[in-house]
Amino acid sequence: MQVITIAARKGGVGKTTLAMHLSVLASNPGSPALLLDIDPQRSLAWWHRLREADVPNLIEADARELPDLIEAARREGIGRIIIDTPPHAEDSILGAMRVADLVLVPTRPGPLDLAAVATTLELAERVGKSPLAVINHSPPRTGQGEPAIVGEARAALASMGATVAASVVAHRVSMSHAILTGSTVNEHEPGGKAAAEVEALWREIEARLSETERKAR
Ligand SMILES: Nc1ncnc2c1ncn2[C@@H]1O[C@H](COP(=O)(O)OP(=O)(O)O)[C@@H](O)[C@H]1O
Ligand SMILES: [Mg+2]
Repeated sequence: MQVITIAARKGGVGKTTLAMHLSVLASNPGSPALLLDIDPQRSLAWWHRLREADVPNLIEADARELPDLIEAARREGIGRIIIDTPPHAEDSILGAMRVADLVLVPTRPGPLDLAAVATTLELAERVGKSPLAVINHSPPRTGQGEPAIVGEARAALASMGATVAASVVAHRVSMSHAILTGSTVNEHEPGGKAAAEVEALWREIEARLSETERKAR
């Protein structure tokens, strides 16, 4: 079983949005992913209630319940769990990081957002995890390649010692449209640019998880 925790000590960076999107891509026929919403705001659960599709499953929980919930999921044969966390409750974030095979840290590419990543990395380090930073809300790519602000963000994150995902998710209105219908961009607009970006990110995450598993063997 693979557990992905999405954490950032800043709100609005895309934790919940990535949890939704990745959970749908992480679901295979016959093996739905499980979402654990441990943010008391329950934004993920709100989206899940709007959904018509019956995967993934979602449980609203408290961080203290995570070890038991994960054990129960393992017994049921669940393949992948994605945990969405609150921005400020340090103990909850630490608890969710502890049980993770991979910690994702989404951030906007702006300077103040990047400064906040350092505090999230510190938490990950405390529980011995090396997270993958994901740049979300970037300006869309142009013909000239990656926007300058993304390159600057990569450099700033690297100087903090963070590994940064090659895939970047741009700020796109289609994201909001999808969420408001309880879906994801991959379901709402499958051939679109947003869908392609999220898929590329998921493939990168899958590869990283397989690599971690291979090393653990
Ligand atoms: N790539 C994106 N493009 C457009 N809107 C986005 C994108 N990522 C997130 N959003 C929007 O930004 C807001 C904050 O995202 P959210 O996932 O709730 O962040 P967090 O969980 O970190 O607080 C939401 O309204 C969400 O719909
Ligand atoms: Mg959230």
